[in-house]
Amino acid sequence: MSEAVGQARRPALGEELELEVDSLAFGGEGVARVGDGGFVVFVAGAIPGDRVRAVLHRRKRSYGHARTTEVLRPSPERIEPVADHPGVAWQVLPYERQLEIKEAQVHEALARLGGLEGYAREEPVPALERWRYRNKLEYSFGGGGEEGELVCGFHAAAGAKRVAAISDCLLASELGNRAREAALAWCRAQGLTAWDRGRAPGEPRGRPPQPAADGRARLRNLIVREGRRTGVVQVRLLTTPGELDGGSFAAALTDVLGERVAGVLWTRSASVAETTVGGETELLAGEELLPERLGELDLRISPSAFFQTNTEMAELLYGVASEYAGLQSWERVYDLYCGIGTIALTLAPRAGEVWGIELVAEAVADAIAGAARNEIGNTHFFAGDARLAMRELVERAGRPDVVVVDPPRAGLSKKVVHRIVEAGPKRIVYVSCNPTTLAPNAAEMVAAGYALQRVRPVDMFPQTHHVECVALLERR
Ligand SMILES: C[S@@+](CC[C@H](N)C(=O)[O-])C[C@H]1O[C@@H](n2cnc3c(N)ncnc32)[C@H](O)[C@@H]1O
Repeated sequence: MSEAVGQARRPALGEELELEVDSLAFGGEGVARVGDGGFVVFVAGAIPGDRVRAVLHRRKRSYGHARTTEVLRPSPERIEPVADHPGVAWQVLPYERQLEIKEAQVHEALARLGGLEGYAREEPVPALERWRYRNKLEYSFGGGGEEGELVCGFHAAAGAKRVAAISDCLLASELGNRAREAALAWCRAQGLTAWDRGRAPGEPRGRPPQPAADGRARLRNLIVREGRRTGVVQVRLLTTPGELDGGSFAAALTDVLGERVAGVLWTRSASVAETTVGGETELLAGEELLPERLGELDLRISPSAFFQTNTEMAELLYGVASEYAGLQSWERVYDLYCGIGTIALTLAPRAGEVWGIELVAEAVADAIAGAARNEIGNTHFFAGDARLAMRELVERAGRPDVVVVDPPRAGLSKKVVHRIVEAGPKRIVYVSCNPTTLAPNAAEMVAAGYALQRVRPVDMFPQTHHVECVALLERR
């Protein structure tokens, strides 16, 4: 139990606190208690066993969020950090502990938020690579012009306004780092400036981002995506509306990286939101689609399509999903939230037929092309909202024997759960990137006549709090 360290029961916003951290919450922050324990503080940058100084930056009635400013007494578990950039908060924990905590969090979520137990808790699958495993990095630009040197890196902390420069991103490969360096060098040489909502002085809130005074586009993000198995990168520059010498940008990248550049793209976006989705995209050089291989599959990925960010671990993740699906070659399978169809195409050789649904039309086009390229003839893909398309799919395809779902972090709506249960598959394989939404979804399925049989965490994101897992539910 943590102890109060001379603090009031409900600290003030901006107050500096000394905190004893006793556990890690979902989302990766340390948990500490103030005063008699009634006020809980979620502390970024702290791990269990730490005593830290931290500043409260968000406050609710019974809890708040703080940022560590100093570690006063390190936890005995702490190890030396190796990366000097954000996005790897758990690097101070030995890898085995990271895995242990993730495993515990999955089962705790299922028990606490879903009342689920009595299922087989299968060994977590550890990460193959603990560093340099991401095939996609989204960097932000900051500075330039009167704002000082232009940098391309990460926001110093979640929601922070400042972008911290980065020299070597240890989540990206060396090739990915070289691509970022080459892009930044060109942007600096051109004298371009960043559009940064937090820093644009005098900009009215909510005003769509504007070009610089000279009409040139201002820099927002750089997205570097890599085909891990093909050894090539796709570089996409995201800017405000405005002018740029796109040909020169593409040439600068190919000068440095040669044939390892698969494609160079430029997206102009006037979106007020800090998002890399949307806008007008132009192909500057190479191909629009990134070639990648996954297991036996030869794939092409559209810039707007989702692809698992850890290619090597995606193969293991799909291996678990495939084992849980228990196919014997005759089954009708649905792959809901199918992205570019990677799960469907992996399962197809062992199924009768596979039907995939995905919201992003470009991803569906990639899935259809992927089936053709890999000579897989028993898959069917449709663009649609899983929330609305299920009944129509059942009418068209017939009832599924197995349903695989792999939704975004928000999980499945009650309606989708209802539609799946109504379709009555024998097995539901749930690939989840968020155990706190898997838990209530699985509980609803259990209440509707399914039994939770097996759960296996898969570590796709070492050095971060993110945890993926696969769950198998069977009709009783
Ligand atoms: C976690 S990804 C999984 C994709 C794929 N299964 C894979 O492993 O690459 C979730 C996918 O769901 C899609 N999606 C989000 N909301 C959706 C909806 N309402 N209906 C259908 N697809 C949706 C996203 O575009 C994304 O491709």
